[in-house]
Amino acid sequence: MSNATSASGTPDNTGKPAARPDSGKTITLEILRYIPGQHDKPEFQPFQIPYVEDWSMLDALAYIKDELDSSLAYRWSCRMAVCGSCGMVFNGEPKLACETFVREYYPQPIRVEPLGNFAIERDLIIDQAPFLAKLESVKPFIIDAGADLKKPANETIQAGEYKQTPLQLAMFKQYSMCINCLLCYSACPQFGLNPQFTGPAALSLAHRYNADSRDHGNEARASVLNEKDGVWSCTFVGYCSEVCPKSVDPASAIQLEKVSGATDWALSFIMPKGAK
Ligand code: FES
Repeated sequence: MSNATSASGTPDNTGKPAARPDSGKTITLEILRYIPGQHDKPEFQPFQIPYVEDWSMLDALAYIKDELDSSLAYRWSCRMAVCGSCGMVFNGEPKLACETFVREYYPQPIRVEPLGNFAIERDLIIDQAPFLAKLESVKPFIIDAGADLKKPANETIQAGEYKQTPLQLAMFKQYSMCINCLLCYSACPQFGLNPQFTGPAALSLAHRYNADSRDHGNEARASVLNEKDGVWSCTFVGYCSEVCPKSVDPASAIQLEKVSGATDWALSFIMPKGAK
């Protein structure tokens, strides 16, 4: 089966747009360009490109990189809203470039910026390192009872069969759909104010494992979730859930962890130490 596409102009599997019909129409992309250490400050650069109705924004960027300016830098991989690589901001809204279409904006110009609230590495590429540290801090993996957390994550549960009922699965399934695209961090005003905030995706994934009947890691995650930059830094604006391309609801996950943390705190006054 060939991955090359027709005269529609959709890219083949190299990401390069194929031959396209010449409609004679054009559209302008204003792309934020910046290389720290080389440029004084980020600046928008306009590119006029052919308007092709079924081009995604990723196709449009590929056209610019292949035909107009090979120095343009951006991330992508799957082109099907799975890998989470292509998060960007289009006209102020965080979205995935591979599932956003040029026709949604035509004939108006489209402003393309890297995700907000992160340092720019180059052009549309942001520094993901702070997020990866937060993700690691919430131990996003299943932890067996009595597991040695100094061991690698893949050794925190015994090999074997762990059956779950549909109800047990339903308790966490939607949170497991997160693709770490970071649109929620770009949308979060609290993360914008406080970069130390653990943030929507990492907290949502912590809840995903806390809500999993096979997991016994609640206590191991509690210190990160309940410290001042954990769930209590969230003011429940909810924009994180609005922009999520996989319909995950990180805002609800964080509120559920607040309830859990507050309940544990209250019980600690009335239950004998070590009791559940
Ligand atoms: S390229 Fe993978 S999510 Fe867009």
